[in-house]
Amino acid sequence: MEKKQVKEAKGKLGVLVVGVGGAVASTFVAGTLIVRKGLGIPVGSITQLATIRLGKREENRFPKIKDVVPLADLKDIVFGGWDIFEDDVYAAARHAEVLTVEDLDKVKDELSAIKPMKAVFDQNFVKRLHGTWVKSAPTKWDLVRQVREDIRQFKEKNHCERLICIWCGSTEVFTPLGEVHKTLPALEKAMQENSAEIAPSMIYAYACLAEKVPYINGAPNLTVDMPAIWDFSAQQQVPILGKDFKTGQTMLKTVLSPMIKTRMLGLSGWFSTNILGNRDGEVLDDPGSFKTKEESKLSVIHNILQPDLYPELYGDVYHKVRINYYPPRKDNKEGWDNIDIFGWLGYPMQLKVDFLCRDSILAAPLCLDLVLFTDLAQRAGMSGIQTWLSFYFKSPMHDFEHIAEHDLFIQYVKLKNTLRAIIGEETIDFLD
Ligand SMILES: NC(=O)c1ccc[n+]([C@@H]2O[C@H](COP(=O)([O-])OP(=O)(O)OC[C@H]3O[C@@H](n4cnc5c(N)ncnc54)[C@H](O)[C@@H]3O)[C@@H](O)[C@H]2O)c1
Repeated sequence: MEKKQVKEAKGKLGVLVVGVGGAVASTFVAGTLIVRKGLGIPVGSITQLATIRLGKREENRFPKIKDVVPLADLKDIVFGGWDIFEDDVYAAARHAEVLTVEDLDKVKDELSAIKPMKAVFDQNFVKRLHGTWVKSAPTKWDLVRQVREDIRQFKEKNHCERLICIWCGSTEVFTPLGEVHKTLPALEKAMQENSAEIAPSMIYAYACLAEKVPYINGAPNLTVDMPAIWDFSAQQQVPILGKDFKTGQTMLKTVLSPMIKTRMLGLSGWFSTNILGNRDGEVLDDPGSFKTKEESKLSVIHNILQPDLYPELYGDVYHKVRINYYPPRKDNKEGWDNIDIFGWLGYPMQLKVDFLCRDSILAAPLCLDLVLFTDLAQRAGMSGIQTWLSFYFKSPMHDFEHIAEHDLFIQYVKLKNTLRAIIGEETIDFLD
């Protein structure tokens, strides 16, 4: 396999986090700083812990990914970002109450030094939050200019060689794909005309691509999932990826559904409910934001089970997803699944899953991996939608010619084979 020309990971990598004061973002930033000081283990991170098989099985080569793939070193990362609240990241992380004060104090100085830049915010898109640290401008196009200026200044001030932007901001209200999102001229015109179909996340994304900064979308927002931005990312030769981190209940769905299907068991219903008490839960309590999340969570089962091919097994599945805001649980989400399956001759059975998880603890390592792999993709000249990173998303982006792949293990094979191809190793089909 011919090795890809990958530019060296030289110099500082700036990581710009939208929503840098949020639970996921502050847990990601604090955790990365703790890990790089050698004071914690990056549990859940493929880039930091996983190995990769290279060559034939009998060669017995299983190096760590980070030892053979030219990823940026954690010590070269500089964090920055935007939020609608002025708190520095230490104060924000204390407020989020995900990590203990004892852990946060290990990197207190570094976290306190990260002060968010003023955000692009429009309450029509996140009804439950009232931002106080927000830019103002006559048009959305002017806001693009301001964000571009933020990016340039951050890069210069921190002496960064490269930048990556990751959205860890709130889930915006559901925005259907409209005419303004279909071509780049239409999108630009809509920004100049202050169209209501332009969400704040689109302003950040457009500004990033204009500055040739790759954009990762951790929420289910439309943002970069539109033909106008697909074209722009190709034109600017920048990677884009999303949507919606796959962390808890949906990750389980993308493991259990392939199991049911592989054994040709039937499915009649899947009821998923959650209780969640953090700010994300509060935002998702608004029906508009919940609809965006619901769309993202619902697509999974249908895609994996292919009811058109198996009408007798999956032609009549009742799938329901609920998220309930329940403050006492804070970030410690509990997700229940009741799965009604059937076996030989149609006899019914049930599966029950109760996942007592920690939302941001699951999401933080994904942020780190996505940032490092996206930087790799940029240095390897891979622009446009990064389908090889579908592994990390509930609702993996794809263009109109392709369908998404949701099965976690197929996604993992694709991720690892792409890494093998990047470093010039044979891809593996497991036939040896
Ligand atoms: N396991 C997970 O935690 C998980 C999984 C999948 C997706 N997500 C998504 O990740 C996002 C972050 O989750 P969270 O739990 O950290 O939520 P959070 O509410 O704690 O954090 C969101 C942050 O974004 C900020 N914000 C909102 N709008 C903004 C804007 N326009 N510009 C800049 N900042 C803005 C908020 O002030 C807040 O600090 C949410 O969209 C959530 O749905 C989380």
